[in-house]
Amino acid sequence: MTCQLVTGGAGFIGSCYVLQARRRGVRVVNLDKLTYAGNMDNLAQLRNDSGHIFVHGDIGNAELVGYLLEHYHPDAVVNFAAESHVDRSIVEPEAFVRTNVLGTAALLRVVKDWWRCLPVDHASVFRFLHISTDEVYGALQPNDPPFTESTPYSPNSPYSASKAAADHLVHAFHETYGLPTLLTNCSNNYGPRQFPEKLIPLMILNALARKPLPIYGKGANIRDWLHVEDHCTAIARVLEAGQPGCKYNIGGRAERTNLEVVRTVCSILDEMVPSPQGEYAGLITFVTDRPGHDFRYAIDCSCIAAALGWKPQYDFDSGLRETVRWYLDNPDWVEHVRSGAYRQWLALNYAGRGM
Ligand code: NAD
Ligand code: DAU
Repeated sequence: MTCQLVTGGAGFIGSCYVLQARRRGVRVVNLDKLTYAGNMDNLAQLRNDSGHIFVHGDIGNAELVGYLLEHYHPDAVVNFAAESHVDRSIVEPEAFVRTNVLGTAALLRVVKDWWRCLPVDHASVFRFLHISTDEVYGALQPNDPPFTESTPYSPNSPYSASKAAADHLVHAFHETYGLPTLLTNCSNNYGPRQFPEKLIPLMILNALARKPLPIYGKGANIRDWLHVEDHCTAIARVLEAGQPGCKYNIGGRAERTNLEVVRTVCSILDEMVPSPQGEYAGLITFVTDRPGHDFRYAIDCSCIAAALGWKPQYDFDSGLRETVRWYLDNPDWVEHVRSGAYRQWLALNYAGRGM
């Protein structure tokens, strides 16, 4: 049985990856700091699974990471751990530098030191896979071609700047020390278990509570949506057959304006839970824009399709319906994440936006 050290595996995408990996029979050591975004409920299915070893800790804790490597001898480290929300990075950029830059640097160094001492047969199959974002490429205009793997980096938010710095460190560890790294840059994910600070779950939960649906600016900004299960199958494929030192773009070929996405969520809810108070789209409220708001992201994922034979399985409209259904069917999960800290964040982020 193979073993992987997965970081950030209690978050939205990491937990989906961990659940998939366990279905494939991979032993998983899951290192997560359990920030506000980390949630053990995401891993409830693995409560009695001895093939999933959960460790509460920080990727920046070199001693702990060193111990886990020596003890479990993983064949791969898959780094999901990050501060991931752009709006929070505008409020508190230092937290993003701490985990996304310094944490990744510390993790890379400990892994490199351990990897260098491995016997050749283990060292040659080992991989360090770092999960990154399309936001490192900056913003596109409506008629620009989508981002490719050779698009120059041009990050605009503290979040994307911290992710870009981490990507450069990953590349540097491959070039300087020969560490067999892999890098993936993915577009916006959606699906079950996403923390409701992000657009789609925020809109679902606000609509159900008959609260305003806050759309930044005019709602014309475009994102390229990919179902989280598709993202995780792409990661597994890159780990299996990706070329060390290479990067792979991952996307859903599903560009939508934010207004289109929110209107679609509303019409799905109108059908699934009709409200006597009227259509959910009536709650749409245009609010002050996000500072430095990137206009459009779009991913050209032809490289991973050609080189590794991966393509998305979900289509956006049915994936979105299934996602809305998941939030309706999991009121306990929803109640748990709507803690005091979540309510404080909503007050902080939306109070000054004219709502
Ligand atoms: P998330 O915020 O839902 O989860 C992040 C997880 O990392 C949480 O479980 C948190 O507790 C953990 N964590 C944070 N700091 C840590 C630290 N110092 N040490 C250990 N664990 C720590 O994020 P997500 O949406 O699941 O994103 C996962 C990764 O994918 C991130 O690297 C993000 O940049 C990247 N990504 C996200 C998207 C998206 O649309 N959500 C798209 C492309 C790439
Ligand atoms: O592109 C990949 C990135 O996608 C990931 O790297 C990030 O981790 C992830 O958070 C996501 O970033 P975005 O900023 O695109 O996602 P978010 O859900 O925050 O916002 C999506 C769009 O919706 C964006 O244009 C801003 C807008 N928005 C968001 C919120 C929370 C609103 O209009 N209103 C809102 O209340």
